[in-house]
Amino acid sequence: MCGIFAYIGTRDDAPSVVFEGIKLLEYRGYDSWGVSYIPNIKSKKIMFEKHSGKIGDSFLKTTIKSKIALGHTRWATHGGVSDENAHPHLDCKGEIAVIHNGIVENYQELKVKLSKNNHIYKSETDTEVISHLIEDRLKTSDIKTSVFDTFESLIGSNAICVLDLKTESVVACRNGSPIVVGFDEKGKQYFLASDVPAFLKYTNKVHFLEDGEGVVVSKSGIKIFDIKSKKEIKAKIKKLDWQLEDAEKGGYPYFLVKEINEQPKTILKSSLINKDELDKVSRLIKKSKKIVLIGCGTASYAALAGKYFFSNSNIQSENYGAYEFLPFAKFCNKDTVVIAISQSGETADTLIAIKEAKKYGAKVVTIVNARGTTMERISDIILPIGAGPEIAVVSTKAMTAQFTILYLLSKTVENKYNFAINSIENLSKKLKLWMNQKLFDEIIKLVKEIDMQEHMYVIGKNLNYPGALEFGLKIKETSYIHAESFTAGELKHGVITLIQKDTPCFILASNDIVKNEVLSSAAELKARGGYIIGVAPFESSEFDATILTPDLEDLTIFGNIIVGQLLGYYLGIGRGADPDKPRNLAKSVTVK
Ligand code: AGP
Ligand code: GLU
Repeated sequence: MCGIFAYIGTRDDAPSVVFEGIKLLEYRGYDSWGVSYIPNIKSKKIMFEKHSGKIGDSFLKTTIKSKIALGHTRWATHGGVSDENAHPHLDCKGEIAVIHNGIVENYQELKVKLSKNNHIYKSETDTEVISHLIEDRLKTSDIKTSVFDTFESLIGSNAICVLDLKTESVVACRNGSPIVVGFDEKGKQYFLASDVPAFLKYTNKVHFLEDGEGVVVSKSGIKIFDIKSKKEIKAKIKKLDWQLEDAEKGGYPYFLVKEINEQPKTILKSSLINKDELDKVSRLIKKSKKIVLIGCGTASYAALAGKYFFSNSNIQSENYGAYEFLPFAKFCNKDTVVIAISQSGETADTLIAIKEAKKYGAKVVTIVNARGTTMERISDIILPIGAGPEIAVVSTKAMTAQFTILYLLSKTVENKYNFAINSIENLSKKLKLWMNQKLFDEIIKLVKEIDMQEHMYVIGKNLNYPGALEFGLKIKETSYIHAESFTAGELKHGVITLIQKDTPCFILASNDIVKNEVLSSAAELKARGGYIIGVAPFESSEFDATILTPDLEDLTIFGNIIVGQLLGYYLGIGRGADPDKPRNLAKSVTVK
């Protein structure tokens, strides 16, 4: 995925508005970036500058005044990372500029059709084909028709923004990849972006473009269209409850550590979910014959945790990584409820799994954080996580909010909603007290003892098993250290052979029925020379070191996982990794 952003308004610093905006979208892609704009003083060509490298480490050179600009931060799919392959991509005459999020699956075929018109290609990207297709159509059509008809010819999940010199307008289209329109009518300025944080400092009044919708923005205002029919449609403007500080670091050095520390607040906020929607899903679950929980990566561990929460409420369910769900979709039917879990609502593997389950008649409930997403559009019921924009690529507050909603849902089905709300309020209070400098200092001290290790192991059992998986993923993602997680019972079936002297072994445990079994596993690891680090609400002679976490029964895993988040953050800092934008990762994997 990548970040696209357009500004049209009365300010004369449009290039720097979009430059700052795509910095806030850097989590969507950061191998290169570019800005294009139409100078206030008449120009024969669209101006642009584009560079490979992270936009966070760059600065904008231009000081030319302009009221209309595009910005793009790239995560390359077709064509390597280079200045030439960075967006925007212009037509041969320099009269239109295109920025793009997605993959044009039929770009080779389109390129062949174009070849007779002797276009000069300056990049290896699929995107540049769009610029030349529009260029050809402009010979016989206006800019809106040319862009819309070109967009209709693209196969794949795409969003494009096109800057047109002649009409001094921006035309954008959406099918699969997101575009949200920001309205500041008072200030006579409009924004188009992949995600809300890019323009949140200017407005929180938005219209989420639907698939198949296009928009034309110029000095005279904004119009939204159905691309196929070219009929104008009314904007559905929403006022989001997100505030400016949600999209800024608020004094923290990185978004990751800010979002880790926001969790006592966001966990509580996510529990304030609309009770009617929760009851609707509860009724659906009670009526259903099969419950399937799916998600990718961190969200797949939330799906696994959901299975344990449901089981503790005497509800049987299945869980899958969405990427491995397809062979089992055929067992879904009209009596199946699929609960899809996602931060971004745009993850391709989860979208594919949802569509497959719907083919067999399943009802789909989506637990999602971002708003206006594709997942919302194709689901029957939405349970919004309400954690606010999660900017860091590594998911933390969204994940604990997902766990919260799943816990609350399981207890609602068990007719224990009030008990659950009280437990979550207590969880939030205890986490707020516990997440203090003493904890951070303990973790920093531990990091200094283990940060030279290249392998670490994390074990847990029952609810601490998804906890261990997430704990390990945080270490991998933020510090690039090989951290392998497994259930305590798996140890003696092979994994134990890996344990060498001083290998750090994290033991995630709770005061639950498997506590002693987990401590026996810890003893086995210790006997083989492992350095045993307890992450639990109790001390033990089996532990060489302990990070004490709040004792909260089923909810003990929240503190246990937060230790992993903080550990990953400090290990990563120590190793010079970028906590907000780990190498090779994108915030939402919108390609399969
Ligand atoms: C989160 O830390 C990971 N970067 C990643 O596994 C993520 O959870 C996964 O890609 C799913 O994303 P989603 O929640 O937006 O669907
Ligand atoms: N496919 C386009 C490219 O490789 C856009 C990639 C993206 O969405 O990040 O430049």
